[in-house]
Amino acid sequence: MGAAVKLESSVERFVGAPRKMLIDGKWVEAASGKTFETPNPATGQVLARVAAGDAEDVDRAVRAARRAFDEGSWARMAPAQREGILLRIADLIEKHADELAQLETLDNGKPFTESRHVDIPAAAGTFRYYAGWITKIYGETNPSDPAFFNFTLREPVGVCGQIIPWNFPLLMCAWKLGPSLACGNTSILKPAEQTPLTALRLGELLLEAGVPPGVVNIVPGFGETAGAALVRHPMVDKIAFTGSTEVGKEIHRETAATLKRVSLELGGKSPNIVFSDADTDAAVQGALLGVFFNAGQVCCAGTRLFVEQKLHDKFAEKLAQTAGGMQQGDPFDPATRVGPLVSKEQLDRVTGYLAAGKKEGAKPLIGGERNTEKGLEKGWFVKPTVFTGVKNDMKIAREEIFGPVVSVIPFKDENDAVLQGNATNYGLAAGVWTRDVSKAHRVARAIRAGTVWVNCYNVFDVVSPFGGYKQSGYGRELSSYALDLYTQAKSVWIKV
Ligand code: NAI
Ligand code: MG
Repeated sequence: MGAAVKLESSVERFVGAPRKMLIDGKWVEAASGKTFETPNPATGQVLARVAAGDAEDVDRAVRAARRAFDEGSWARMAPAQREGILLRIADLIEKHADELAQLETLDNGKPFTESRHVDIPAAAGTFRYYAGWITKIYGETNPSDPAFFNFTLREPVGVCGQIIPWNFPLLMCAWKLGPSLACGNTSILKPAEQTPLTALRLGELLLEAGVPPGVVNIVPGFGETAGAALVRHPMVDKIAFTGSTEVGKEIHRETAATLKRVSLELGGKSPNIVFSDADTDAAVQGALLGVFFNAGQVCCAGTRLFVEQKLHDKFAEKLAQTAGGMQQGDPFDPATRVGPLVSKEQLDRVTGYLAAGKKEGAKPLIGGERNTEKGLEKGWFVKPTVFTGVKNDMKIAREEIFGPVVSVIPFKDENDAVLQGNATNYGLAAGVWTRDVSKAHRVARAIRAGTVWVNCYNVFDVVSPFGGYKQSGYGRELSSYALDLYTQAKSVWIKV
C-alpha cells in the first residue's frame, strides 16, 4: 500500500515526529503532556502522534486569540496588507499541494487524485477568494435625520472557535479560516481527532505567510475535551461548527449560557430524484458521484435515490453494475475510486447500518459488507453498496450513514417525489434529473434544502453559498453570505 506515489520527504518528517499544537505563534506540547495517535485508514497503521489539547490548552489559545484581537494586530491591519497575507496563504498551499495532498490521503484515506485535484486546490481557492473580499467589505451611509450623520461599520465578531470534521480536513480549515480572517477575526481551530495533520501543516504555512502570532491557534484534540472547552469558554464570541447533528444540538444548548454567535453545518439525508425522462446515463454517473465520492463520507451525499417507478428496476441494475466497476483499494493508486472509511468507529457504524438495512428487508444489489480482500483486510473498507427494496421510513433511509451506501426508492409522480424527498428531518441538499425544464424549476423550489442540483450533483464553488435547512443547521458558508457569519454591524451617530 502507498507505494504508487513517492512520498515527499517533508511528509515523512511530518508524520514521523510527535506533532505539537500552535498557540500564540509557537509550537507547544499539551499542558498535560498527553498525545494521541492518528492512524492510516487504508492500513490501520499509526501515522503520527499528536499533542492532545484539553481545557488548559484551549484556555491558553483563547487568551492568545483574545489578546491578538483586542490589540488589533489583525483587525486594524491595512486591508490591502491583510489581503496580501491571504493571497500568500493560497500561494503556499498551491506550492505545497503534493505534500498536503499526500498528508490528506495518508490521514483520511481518500483517493490521492481527489486530495490533489479537488480538496487542496479548493482550499487554496477559498483563501484567494476571501482575500479579494478584504478590500470590499463596506458599511453604509444611512438616510437619517440631517441633524445627525449616521453610518454603519461592519466589524469582526471577535474570537471564533472553529470546530471541523474529518471528511474534508484541509478544505474545512479553509472554509472556516478564509472568511473569518478576511473579516478581521481571530481563531482557535480544532481539527477532528481523526485527521489533524494537514491542519497542523497549514499552521506552519500561515506563519510563513505572515499571519501574526495568536491570530490563528490550532489545537488538536477530542470533541468531549478540547471541543467542549472551546464551546464553553466565556472569551469566545462565536462558534462555527461542521459535524454531526447530535453534536450541533449539544453546541446549541451549551452556547446558550454565554449567547455566543453560532453557525452549524450538520448532517444530511439528501434526496436525489431521477425522473423517467432524464438522461439515464448522466443520472447514473451523477448518482454514483453523489454517493460514492469520498466513500460517501459527505454531508450532502445523495443517499436517498428516488427513481420514477417505471425506470426503477432498470436504473437500479445499471447503477449496481456501474458501481461494481469502480475500483476500491490503495488510495494512492490513480485507478482507485473508493478508498477506506476514516476510522474503525466509522467502519463499525456503517456496517451496523448495513445489517440494519438487511434486517428491515432491504436487498443489497451489490456490496452490503466490509471489503476484506487481500491487501485491504487491515484497512477500513466497505464495499460500495446499492440497496433496493427500501422504504422511506426504514432506518437506513432516515439516518445519516456516512459511508458508500445508497438506497434506491421508487416514486409514482412528481408530487410523490417531492413528498418523499421532503420527508426527512434534514435539508442540506437535493438532486433532480429531468429533461423537462418546467419540472426542474418546480421541484427545485419545492424541495426544502439549502442546495439543489439539477442534472448534476456535488458541484461546489466558493462563489455559491452552502448550508442547511431544517436540522442540517443554520448559517451559510462560502460566497459573500459567509461574511455575514463573521461580521456584525455597528451603527454610529454623529451630531452634526
Ligand atoms: P462529530 O460531530 O462528533 O465530530 C465533528 C467535530 O466535532 C470533531 O472535531 C469532534 O472532535 C468535534 N466534537 C465532537 N463532540 C464535541 C463536543 N461535545 N463539543 C465540541 N466539539 C465536539 O462527528 P463524528 O463522531 O466524527 O461522526 C459521527 C457522524 O457525524 C458521522 O457518521 C456523520 O453522520 C456525521 N458527520 C457529519 C459531518 C458533516 O460534514 N456534516 C462530518 C463528520 C461527521
Ligand atoms: Mg463524535
